[in-house]
Amino acid sequence: MSETSPKLRAELEGIPTYKPGKPAAAEGPVAYKLSSNENPYPPLSGVMETVTAAACSLNRYPDMACTALTAELADRFGVPASHVATGTGSVGVAQQLIQATSGPGDEVIYAWRSFEAYPIITQISGAASVQVPLTPGDVHDLDAMADAITDRTRLIFVCNPNNPTGTVVRRAELERFLDRVPSDVLVVLDEAYREFIRDAEVPDGVTLYRERPNVCVLRTFSKAYGLAGLRVGFAIAHEPVAAALRKTAVPFGVSQLAQEAAIASLRAEDELLGRVGSLVCERTRVVDALRAQGWTVPETQANFVWLRLGERTVAFAEACERAGVVIRPFPGEGVRVTVGEAEANDIFLKTAEAFRKEM
Ligand SMILES: Cc1ncc(COP(=O)(O)O)c(C=O)c1O
Repeated sequence: MSETSPKLRAELEGIPTYKPGKPAAAEGPVAYKLSSNENPYPPLSGVMETVTAAACSLNRYPDMACTALTAELADRFGVPASHVATGTGSVGVAQQLIQATSGPGDEVIYAWRSFEAYPIITQISGAASVQVPLTPGDVHDLDAMADAITDRTRLIFVCNPNNPTGTVVRRAELERFLDRVPSDVLVVLDEAYREFIRDAEVPDGVTLYRERPNVCVLRTFSKAYGLAGLRVGFAIAHEPVAAALRKTAVPFGVSQLAQEAAIASLRAEDELLGRVGSLVCERTRVVDALRAQGWTVPETQANFVWLRLGERTVAFAEACERAGVVIRPFPGEGVRVTVGEAEANDIFLKTAEAFRKEM
């Protein structure tokens, strides 16, 4: 037998692997998972019943075009159905956007640090990542991002609010930035945490998309809607971007369970808004408490907080884990902590207070 292995694309060399939030420990007195920005609430009313009923048809392929969900989303956002493209989570749609626009010799710009999938999906495509550092306040530096555009730039991600810092860019600066981007460069407004925004100056990306054919908005059912396990997200984009998303979709990628759960969740909006409201109250409580303890916490508009701990990052994450909450460390940089159930937030706050006193 030959010793050579199948030839793999050189682009795969050195790709950072996506690091999922660590699960909560199965043993021990308490264990809460605050490491993946998930929703602590169970699925919304009606979702379990819908999913259980849909499970009776698991021997069938799903509706490949996600017809009913697409129609529901088009109606909700007041856009043509041909401008809605669904996918396997918004990260799946983000990957399709890169596939559709970028390859070897091209460049993809995004802030750094930002969502950790961006470098991975960019590298897989063969395009080069252009990472533009956040400002010292952990906010997107849109001027520097515009300055980084070259004739090789094909796609720019703007993560608003930004994962993992929770910070936002506001309407005037975002519009100024979009005015500087050439019309043949796609700008992807990744709004995975849109529902948690309370700052009225942060624009809804859909309003920007309406006027600008090179703007695409990414949304997900994984966060506020609490369907992370079902993998469904979507983009709102003009033709030909939306059409390109249909071409690059994995056939039958979004399960029938996911499609129907998403529709049921959209129809439970009052309950959704109530839950999001409670999480936003918890967020205020957590941020206020941390600041009272002496921490510097960037203004967050998402369902998580960011603490820039530098060299103390890992020690802090370990202390949290010992206390019963698993958080997300970025070694050498900081920790991202999801706002979860009140008991979990209390454990985190208590640990943060004790850690601060020893610093
Ligand atoms: C900014 C951002 N975009 C996209 C995603 C992907 O979410 P999903 O693929 O579950 O829709 C995440 C998940 O953490 C995220 O933080």
